[in-house]
Amino acid sequence: MIKATQFLLAGAAAMALAACATTSEAAATPPASASATAVPIAPVEPEWARPDPKMDAFLDELMAKMTLQEKIGQLTLLTSDWESTGPTMREGYQQDIAAGRVGAIFNAYTAKYTRELQQMAVEGTRLKIPLLFGYDVIHGHRTIFPISLGEAASWDMEAIEKSARVSAAEASAEGIHWTFSPMVDIARDARWGRISEGAGEDVFLGSQIAKARVHGYQGDDLDAVDTVLATAKHFAAYGAAQAGRDYHTVDISERTLRDVYLPPFKAAADAGVATFMTSFNEYDGIPASGNKFLLTDVLRGEWGFDGFVVTDYTSINEMVPHGFSKDLAQAGEQALGAGVDMDMQGAVYMENLAKSVEEGRVDMARIDEAVRRVLEMKYRLGLFEDPYRYSDQARQEATLYKPEFLEAARDVARKSMVLLKNEGDVLPLTVQAKSIALIGPLGDSKTDMIGSWSAAGDRKTRPVTILEGLQARARDGVTVEYAKGASYDFDAEGKTDGFAEALALAEKSDVIIAAMGERWDMTGEAASRTSLDLPGNQTALLEKLVATGKPVVLVVLSGRPNTIAWADENVDAILHAWYPGTQGGHAVADVLFGDYNPSGKLPVTFPRTVGQVPIHYDMKNTGRPIELGAPGAKYVSRYLNTPNDPLYRFGYGLSYTTFGYSPATLSAASMGPEGSITASATVTNTGDRAGEEVVQLYVRDLVGSVTRPVQELKGFEKIMLQPGEARTVSFTLQPRDLAFTRADMSHGWEPGEFQLWIAPSSGAKASIPVTFTITE
Ligand code: BGC
Repeated sequence: MIKATQFLLAGAAAMALAACATTSEAAATPPASASATAVPIAPVEPEWARPDPKMDAFLDELMAKMTLQEKIGQLTLLTSDWESTGPTMREGYQQDIAAGRVGAIFNAYTAKYTRELQQMAVEGTRLKIPLLFGYDVIHGHRTIFPISLGEAASWDMEAIEKSARVSAAEASAEGIHWTFSPMVDIARDARWGRISEGAGEDVFLGSQIAKARVHGYQGDDLDAVDTVLATAKHFAAYGAAQAGRDYHTVDISERTLRDVYLPPFKAAADAGVATFMTSFNEYDGIPASGNKFLLTDVLRGEWGFDGFVVTDYTSINEMVPHGFSKDLAQAGEQALGAGVDMDMQGAVYMENLAKSVEEGRVDMARIDEAVRRVLEMKYRLGLFEDPYRYSDQARQEATLYKPEFLEAARDVARKSMVLLKNEGDVLPLTVQAKSIALIGPLGDSKTDMIGSWSAAGDRKTRPVTILEGLQARARDGVTVEYAKGASYDFDAEGKTDGFAEALALAEKSDVIIAAMGERWDMTGEAASRTSLDLPGNQTALLEKLVATGKPVVLVVLSGRPNTIAWADENVDAILHAWYPGTQGGHAVADVLFGDYNPSGKLPVTFPRTVGQVPIHYDMKNTGRPIELGAPGAKYVSRYLNTPNDPLYRFGYGLSYTTFGYSPATLSAASMGPEGSITASATVTNTGDRAGEEVVQLYVRDLVGSVTRPVQELKGFEKIMLQPGEARTVSFTLQPRDLAFTRADMSHGWEPGEFQLWIAPSSGAKASIPVTFTITE
């Protein structure tokens, strides 16, 4: 029973509730003209999919010559033995190449090695079909950029596209044709280690970044030798793994799938992504690699996707332990039938499909369709003309680690860093800070700088550590000394060896920089945690450093949001630096010394405690929102021991300058079905340094045929302002921008009332929303 007396129906809250009550009656009736409000999810034809009669004739002729075994070979992708990115290896992959049993290889690179393997396929097999070389080029190939989540924090689409462009240039110069990137999984659970690999929690930001990355990798022309095929992965909803445990079950509604998890995939498809990769999880009880709804009905049927679909690693084999297939033969039939074209590493197609065809359980037309898709990509890459065009030693030597690539990596790294706290303007470091104590396990660790999934990145010699970066920058008699002090290893908890040395250094210094966080492989695949605290004995040392009374700057290197509430209360400044890449140490120095004014904003919510997870800014209001209760009221949606609010909100990040926002204004108070509204606000640099600000547009749809989030990002713009400079930033919205999956599962918008904010973050409570309506 609702205890009405518990609610404090005062002021704005009461008005909001009243408004909801009135309009919800109206919303109970379906929109008068559903078709006028529907927004079709139309397929967008990519440039590379243009008709090519010459290609068709070539492939018709080639396929007419192929045996069933040769066809199945084209649907088989195997890892080389250079490295392993999963639980299995396959002995004898070279014999498989020579026998035409494999059409694609991953985890093999360099012009020399890819040439050798290519030669086996082209000179050793009957039809001379070239191999396709794939690799996980996720945030750089040799020159490593910040991890993907860090790049997302830049909110800078040009910088993100540039990172993908450089990655493609380096990877393609080493024989790679195809990257297993971008990972576009929305992730709202920081326990899940793979949160580090994507663009964070938001649908809109994630979709923009998906487009930028696809374009960066593929350019405008797949035939250009410095571009690579991109892969939208992992299809779909992998980020919703229960309890944040990797590979775990996903159980979400189709509405959440369509409104939250699918949009970045659709954005990638619209940007022309050449391939899709399935995911390890099930969706609605059916493993993704056997899920016809996802792979055929949505991907091909609704979106008109023309490229090919590869599995994630052995996910066809895994349908057996999932309990979906009785054996591998059935798993292969289910995967092919659902829409998987290429089998990564499991060799299920290789070992079972021929028999399935002979026994009539697989349609030959479906095999031909899959083979055709794979061969088309090889053709479009120009491999039939010259199978070695990517394996070019001279180009490799001229391309890797170009100075401009290193400069781009440094630039993206400093753009990715988020200043979370800066009390008393302790940063940027002043000329008075003559002696700097750098303390912590991440202060001088090359291995950690480049994070996980760092492709062919060298983690031993190339990365610039924070110590090296600070020392290179320190001038005018400034000294930087280092003591490790603590450890991030889980079993270091409770130990204090190293503390005394660190404290002695701290005592004799003017400022302490604590470089703490997680070891590089504590995020990424198979790296879930049940605690988000700084691991080991780092916080214990941090407490002692704070107790010295010296100014303490915490620099966090990590691939996920960490629970740093104690630090937030007690240290002077906090910079979240992710894993910043090959040039990371220089980038950290650029920010700490103020050569670069930080501009990053969080692409994920930082919880106060792991108990709040999953937490994201665009949650629903519930029927008992906390704002409606008196302070401490019982029957509202809250925790007894922790506020509902996170520690740092999505979109949050400080600068060394300050920005003022005018109230937002609208071009009109309402728009019709074909209309639009322009919302504007003037942003002023109110401090004394030039700086960049990410201006964010949020909207709330007050009443819907299904409940709507309390806020949704619908636009953003990153602008540079000189001290005192003001700029008016405008966003134009059409009804279609407010579309969602409605009660009847159609995709469209609904007439009604909306609130809108133009703000520096999702949590800018002071900024008062303006209201507009969409009329019928
Ligand atoms: C990962 C994929 C990756 C693949 C190939 C899998 O374990 O989930 O993201 O692309 O390995 O390395």
